[in-house]
Amino acid sequence: MMENPYCPVKAEIADIIEESPTIKTFALKPEKPIPFRTGQFMEMTVGGLGEASFTPSSNPRIENTMELTIMDVGKVTSRAHRMKKGEIVGVRGPYGTGYPLEDFKGKEILIVGGGVGLAPLRSLILALLNEIGKYKKVVIKYGARSPEDIIYKNQIKEWTKNKDLDVELTVDKGDSAWKENVGLITTLLKKDMGIDIKDSIAIACGPPIMMKFTTFKLIELGYRDEDIYLSMEKNMSCGIGKCGHCRIGPYYACKDGPVFTYDKIKEYHTIWE
Ligand SMILES: Cc1cc2nc3c(=O)[nH]c(=O)nc-3n(C[C@H](O)[C@H](O)[C@H](O)COP(=O)(O)OP(=O)(O)OC[C@H]3O[C@@H](n4cnc5c(N)ncnc54)[C@H](O)[C@@H]3O)c2cc1C
Ligand code: FES
Repeated sequence: MMENPYCPVKAEIADIIEESPTIKTFALKPEKPIPFRTGQFMEMTVGGLGEASFTPSSNPRIENTMELTIMDVGKVTSRAHRMKKGEIVGVRGPYGTGYPLEDFKGKEILIVGGGVGLAPLRSLILALLNEIGKYKKVVIKYGARSPEDIIYKNQIKEWTKNKDLDVELTVDKGDSAWKENVGLITTLLKKDMGIDIKDSIAIACGPPIMMKFTTFKLIELGYRDEDIYLSMEKNMSCGIGKCGHCRIGPYYACKDGPVFTYDKIKEYHTIWE
């Protein structure tokens, strides 16, 4: 009999990490391993409330646990935030195509994250670190509203010490202990940021407004449209190209994305919504 593509796999919450006042990372142990490629997404269901989409934030090499980093914004996510270790959720997927790592080989990679948008990018950074010798340079720019909104604080500390990574942070509003940049993420994107733009690709993930201004800044700096990779977090439903909820022009974000190069989608005004 054919497997029902909508049927979730049970997964136990093995650990919960509080990342910020509104964001938690859930380490899930699914009943059976769920291999995924970095950038693909899952549908998670909690307590019969419905489903929501999340991109695993963990290393795709680790198959028996999967981490989802979830911001509390509504029905499903706030129920998830009230759950405890040992409780069960359902996950189905992975869906979408993910990041085309093959195309990044030999390139300088600029990663630009905003807020909880660092979740899929953490998985990407871990995947790049798995075979770091294949990439020329990895530069990470991350912005959050305030120092307490920065997620993966310990891991970012490690990345800052890693000579293979170049990490720079910014917050919209600092506090007395904050020693790094204050300003929007675009203030970190400059001609003299140590990247050979012609030999580089840029990958952005964050709220739509952040991705919009990041894209415009990258183009101003000389990035070509086809070298800018954006995560289109459209309102998904089926996840498998059947319902049409996630359409961007001729594309289905769930099946053809959620990662698209800017040249493919730039003519569709809904991309920044
Ligand atoms: C491919 C993909 C990957 C994602 N990865 C992550 C992730 O790693 N971590 C994370 O915290 N969030 C992620 N999201 C966003 C997440 O799916 C939504 O925040 C979640 O569906 C909200 O569900 P809810 O029931 O809690 O909110 P609801 O009660 O449904 O709605 C709350 C608010 O969020 C808006 N909303 C609902 N669904 C979406 C959506 N899919 N995209 C944008 N806005 C939405 C609604 O319009 C409403 O304003 C991702 C979305 C997609 C499509
Ligand atoms: S979510 Fe149904 S077609 Fe994409």
